[in-house]
Amino acid sequence: MVDISNIQQFLLCATPEAWLVEAEKNLDVILIDHAHCEKKAASTAMSLLFRYVDRKELLIKLSQLAREELLHFEQVLEFMDQLDVKYDHMTAGRYAKELRQDIRADEPHRLVDTLIVGAIIEARSCERFAALAPRLMENERTAALGRYYVFLLKSESRHYEDYLALAELYAKEGIGSRIEVFLECEKKLIESVDSEFRFHSGVPA
Ligand SMILES: [Fe+2]
Ligand SMILES: [Fe+2]
Repeated sequence: MVDISNIQQFLLCATPEAWLVEAEKNLDVILIDHAHCEKKAASTAMSLLFRYVDRKELLIKLSQLAREELLHFEQVLEFMDQLDVKYDHMTAGRYAKELRQDIRADEPHRLVDTLIVGAIIEARSCERFAALAPRLMENERTAALGRYYVFLLKSESRHYEDYLALAELYAKEGIGSRIEVFLECEKKLIESVDSEFRFHSGVPA
């Protein structure tokens, strides 16, 4: 398995056991929401490509990222077919919306904060894939999906690194304090009770 210890150390907490147990029981929700997340990740990167046309490094990194996320989207759809899960609409959970609430409105702060949030979402996705994979691999029906989650660690951990490097590049000052603000908020979202079960949700109610 790809070493993601840097990501586990970056995040302020690990995924709670209760969420992992719920995920195994509700794999349909995980798959549908995962497909939505891949699409949303591509769409977020695309909107940054439109908004920051003068940031060359961003254009190159996020164009690549958007393509990879759409490829993941197609791959998740394939797994849904294999596991007889029907793709459907699903309301977004609270996670990304609440994380984005602290994004500052003025530039370049808006850009830097958005990139930090992007890095955190990629990091948490990675951490959850790594935590879920061994459990899914124990079951014959879901073993291939577990192996796919291991495969995803390589690209998702690179996405985390790319977002963070871009945030550092475009910030006019150190970003440590901003990272702390968003990580503290993220920890609360992961460790508090959440009424909706989703890929990035908190402790199941
Ligand atoms: Fe992805
Ligand atoms: Fe990603």
